[in-house]
Amino acid sequence: MSEIIVVGAGIAGMTAAVKASELGSHVTLISPDYSERSQSVMAMGGINAALGKNDSVDEHFADTMNGGCGINDVKAVKRLTDDAPQIINWLSSIGTTFTRDGEGKIDQRYFGGQKKKRTAYAGARTGKQIVTALINECRKKEAEGGVTRVVGWRFLSLIIKNGKCLGVICINEDTSEIREFLSDSVIIATGGLNKLFGKTSGSIHNDGVATARLFMQGVELANLEMIQYHPTTVNTPVKRMLITEAARGEGGKLYTIRDGEKWYFMKEWYPELAELMPRDVVSRSIYKASEAGKNQVYLDISHLDEDIIKTKLDEVYEICTNYLNLDPTSDAIPVYPGVHFFMGGIKTDENHKTNIQGLYAAGECSVQYHGANRLGGNSLLGAVHGGWIAAENAIMDSNDDYINQIDDELESFNKFEKSGKPADVEDELAEIMAQYMGIYRNEKDLKDALAKLDELEVKADSYYDYIKLESLILLAKACVISALMRKESRGAHQRTDYPQTSEEFKRTTCVTYGGEINVAFR
Ligand code: FUM
Repeated sequence: MSEIIVVGAGIAGMTAAVKASELGSHVTLISPDYSERSQSVMAMGGINAALGKNDSVDEHFADTMNGGCGINDVKAVKRLTDDAPQIINWLSSIGTTFTRDGEGKIDQRYFGGQKKKRTAYAGARTGKQIVTALINECRKKEAEGGVTRVVGWRFLSLIIKNGKCLGVICINEDTSEIREFLSDSVIIATGGLNKLFGKTSGSIHNDGVATARLFMQGVELANLEMIQYHPTTVNTPVKRMLITEAARGEGGKLYTIRDGEKWYFMKEWYPELAELMPRDVVSRSIYKASEAGKNQVYLDISHLDEDIIKTKLDEVYEICTNYLNLDPTSDAIPVYPGVHFFMGGIKTDENHKTNIQGLYAAGECSVQYHGANRLGGNSLLGAVHGGWIAAENAIMDSNDDYINQIDDELESFNKFEKSGKPADVEDELAEIMAQYMGIYRNEKDLKDALAKLDELEVKADSYYDYIKLESLILLAKACVISALMRKESRGAHQRTDYPQTSEEFKRTTCVTYGGEINVAFR
């Protein structure tokens, strides 16, 4: 029986654990917190699959490639969109309670960048429903002995010997104990790079440190400049929160005030799809219509039936009433584009293999499906699909010689404790990234960002948690250098000094580290 470690217990991690255990492996599922606290729970709007008679997997494929502006992994997207109906059936079979139509069939709604109603959903709490079903499934596997849950441990490092991954080193968040976990293969499912920007719609648990550490250890990353700004986030006293794209899918309209009148700019600029253009287009339009944020843009759903708002958009209603003190059945919602998703991360092939033998990645931390811009509803799909495919491949690896290999790895963590408050450095990092890696970029700003990151690196050296800060700053630099070297505008990456899309850059930005950062377009 092979031993597999899965790091991260959101939707991708749990799917990988369930599937690998179904296929006869033993899985150790490691995470800093319980799955109920994973970022996956926050996913609202839905999950895409061509289910209806009027839709087809080919159209789902074409829309995904179009949305990604041609730099998605073609083979991976083909498999993703072909498998999507099977994934919905599986999720339903394990207890995901999708919203049903009058005939009892799974209902589907419009989402951005797609002309068909293709997004299956559970009110505006789709992530929560899928997570709940997967937790139950995982518990069954735990009871059967196929899965062991290890909660409260955070990833620190891979154990790599002779180019092969032998396991991971983790730290216990309560006791600071550091220990190794050995295995035949490792699946990383640690989510997006939220700590780079601080205020995002994502979870603070998905801080990007695991990706940053892997990068330092020689794992290849890709498309780091592709950072998705979701058009409709809101600022609450607690954090930046999402107003799901489903609000526009159900008929919500965006406007700003021009010459004393409501101006519905999306309808004017994009008459066919209007508010349902892909996210990169809608975010840029909000930026332009608001004159770079000078004028407020509103999302108005008050014309929808109250019943639709309170059932299909239940979470939107709660966010507005609980955190914004406004009633969306009568008031328009002030919205801002905000960092929501990282299309870039750990480069994998269509089998979710990385460049290190025995190492796989799935979910938001991995790159293959979304290219330069992800379509709404494809992230939950990618997470389930990625976990599933990674598991099918990871069970075939074996390590004969992993015992007694790792003493020197543990030794290297002795310098872990230093003094000082990492939060200061983290805040500065987030400010630099937000200022220079926004919706629009240019060479001068990107070079300024690199200079500021150099200064921050010096400052970080004296801080507690140096390992984390050092790797995050390196990752931030890799994002900025990728943006600097992609001398064109494509999807989420818009350069004011290179406004055209260029055939020369219809490629993946591949980034490696071996003492210095190397970028190649392949
Ligand atoms: O707007 C949303 O509900 C987000 C969905 C997604 O990112 O897939």
